[in-house]
Amino acid sequence: MQHEIPPLFIEGNSVEDIHDIKGFEHYAQNKLPMNIATFFSGGAGDEITLEENVSAFDRLKLVPRVLKNVEKRSLSTTVLDQNINFPLLIAPMAFQQLAHPEGEMAMAKAAHEHNIMIVLSTLSTFSFREIRVNSNVSSWFQLYIYKDREITKNLVQLAEKAGYKGIVLTVDAPLYGKRVKELYNPLTLPSGLEVKNLQDAGLDLKGISTAKLPSYLASLLDPSISWNDITWLRSVTSLPIILKGVMNPKDIKIAIEHNIDAIIISNHGGRQLDTSLSSIDTLKFIRDSVEGKLEIILDGGIRKGIDILKALALGAKAVMVGRPILWGLAAGGEEGVKRVLTILKSELDLAMALCGYTSISQINEEILFFPNK
Ligand code: LAC
Repeated sequence: MQHEIPPLFIEGNSVEDIHDIKGFEHYAQNKLPMNIATFFSGGAGDEITLEENVSAFDRLKLVPRVLKNVEKRSLSTTVLDQNINFPLLIAPMAFQQLAHPEGEMAMAKAAHEHNIMIVLSTLSTFSFREIRVNSNVSSWFQLYIYKDREITKNLVQLAEKAGYKGIVLTVDAPLYGKRVKELYNPLTLPSGLEVKNLQDAGLDLKGISTAKLPSYLASLLDPSISWNDITWLRSVTSLPIILKGVMNPKDIKIAIEHNIDAIIISNHGGRQLDTSLSSIDTLKFIRDSVEGKLEIILDGGIRKGIDILKALALGAKAVMVGRPILWGLAAGGEEGVKRVLTILKSELDLAMALCGYTSISQINEEILFFPNK
């Protein structure tokens, strides 16, 4: 049974009055203009995958262990040798100043305070340099490969120079998905909002109005990308490469052959290919193909600390979270992001304790109910 959507918190109260992600989502959806809310919340096609990403977590049931003395607990862990205070990365999301003027800067500052990592989008509204100058947060840079390889190369090298510690290559978007709601409510960027990374990398946007920018940028994606581009990418950067959007065991095998450091299991938040398998069911499906040879991060559908626990129990090293954090940003800028992170962290802490765990490394699949086993 769905629990009731919490009431909107009243203007003047603080984000501390919101206690779960549903509360933040409800508040943000009502606050943002329709086409912006649609851009962030929407998915591809009939939004089957968007919905399934969330509901598949709820279908997976827990069988907790008891009497394990859970008084002292720690949630700290590592992702590609980076220490983080709890196993969550903030997902790359485009145009964050549409949600709140503090945009990606709020994400970076809140993540730094929580000692977790962010993945900055190619399409960020603050540039990677601005973020690095204003925050010491550990971060990876999310990359699209554009038809113009010189610009793509410049993006990578500028990110490396600015201190980013990994390149997250999006591999599930050779073309932009069919986002039906977005077609009915097109996203237009207000003037003054820029895609500075791309401009710093040499993209000339003269003559492109901000209103037309989102569709213009989508048209620059290179549909010819292939495994050869991984070799090319390695020739222009020494940073670890993380592939975002891998779902099929056959591709995992090829990723291992290419010495990929980590993969992000993701269906792009249900925004690319509708009816793709949900993220958590994908993890269940592919985990045996990984053979411990690369780290897995799960992205898509996380709305509660319990979801994080389930992803870790199935072998993920960490999760990546997008929309919930975006709702926090929309609700209250940096304070909103911090609050969402605090909620997810404390929910994970509670879920771990109630399953008998005191550290991340103890978590395993014994607490998951598999009906057919
Ligand atoms: C999106 C693209 C920008 O999902 O990655 O909106």
